[in-house]
Amino acid sequence: MSAPIAIIGTGIAGLSAAHALRDAGQVVQLFDKGHGSGGRMASKRSEAGALDLGAQYFTARDRRFLDAVQKWREHGWVAEWDPALYQYRDGELSPSPDEQPRWVGTPRMSAITRALLQDQVVTFTCRITEVFRGEEHWHLQDSEGQTHGPFSRVLVATPAPQAAALLASAPKLAAAAASIPMEPTWAVALAFREPLDTPVQGCFVHEGPLSWLASNHSKPGRDEQLDTWVLHAASGWSKQHIDLPKDSVIEHLRGAFAELIGCAVHAPDFALAHRWLYARPMEAHQFGALADADLGIYACGDWCLSGRVEGAWLSGLEAARRLLEHL
Ligand code: FAD
Ligand code: NAI
Repeated sequence: MSAPIAIIGTGIAGLSAAHALRDAGQVVQLFDKGHGSGGRMASKRSEAGALDLGAQYFTARDRRFLDAVQKWREHGWVAEWDPALYQYRDGELSPSPDEQPRWVGTPRMSAITRALLQDQVVTFTCRITEVFRGEEHWHLQDSEGQTHGPFSRVLVATPAPQAAALLASAPKLAAAAASIPMEPTWAVALAFREPLDTPVQGCFVHEGPLSWLASNHSKPGRDEQLDTWVLHAASGWSKQHIDLPKDSVIEHLRGAFAELIGCAVHAPDFALAHRWLYARPMEAHQFGALADADLGIYACGDWCLSGRVEGAWLSGLEAARRLLEHL
């Protein structure tokens, strides 16, 4: 039997690739530096319940992704979220309804990758620092100095700046990944025992420090007792305030939220801030995935396509396709 395929990253891209490879009869082994799967689709467990701090919802436009989402819906892993949508522009908050279906994991965003993990072989809290090739096989080195392998092929499914370092054995791939800057996003969650008196459930914000706010509580399947909200700062603000202490970030974004939401915002009963250093690629790309078939090393992730959940999933699928093509 040939050596398994290593996948670094258990976000939606890595798991999409893992599924496609397993469906084709390949043995895969996954690694992630986090405590669990999901990456930027993870949900933070807190005393106010599970909070979707990264991806808020996703849309499905590609037929292949639409089919996958339909299956996830049948399994109960996702449900449609139809929030009362608003926008904030020129100092005005106004309703902004549309017909776009939007999907969320149930009962939390992380449910999707948890379900996709199934019984895959995975090692968590394992930060891979080096990917190197011996005579015949690949090996991975982690930050504790441990070596993992041998592997027949390696698929790197991390954000671009982290992928660049792991792709050092394939300089062309490393250079492509290094050429993709990713922007940060500060996220803040607020929870109120007494619900806010507003009809807003989601809002695209076009000025000031915020870019998005959502009632986490309004998503299907959430049963937390508190009225929970997630605020995302705009990329520019996040970059300018990248090293601001979390308490100050909460204060700033809570203030901006109170100014635009149009109702009294009392002091939250719970608040937390999370900094996503590599939240989104600055622009969309058309790589699909990166491949060096001769060496047997591949890369995928949202940064290879649209910078969205759908793009990440499609990129994982494309990486798997290119790998299988050269077996
Ligand atoms: P990731 O989810 O980042 O997964 C990469 C994984 O690799 C992580 O689990 C990480 O721990 C692991 N990893 C990294 N380095 C190493 C290493 N050295 N060793 C081991 N493991 C490693 N998209 C939408 O479609 N809709 C939205 O509303 C939306 N909102 C967003 C809001 C925010 C704040 C953020 C941050 C993102 C948002 N996105 C949204 C984007 C979406 O979350 C991403 O496009 C998608 O989740 C990326 O998936 P991925 O698998 O490519 O990468
Ligand atoms: P989408 O179609 O809902 O939104 C795309 C964009 O269209 C929105 O950002 C918004 O500007 C605009 N828009 C859509 N519906 C609107 C409405 N009813 N009223 C006013 N404006 C509206 O979803 P899609 O294309 O799947 O994009 C995913 C979302 O994820 C986007 O909002 C994007 O900004 C966000 N995202 C955020 C990241 C972050 O780091 N904060 C990273 C990656 C994606």
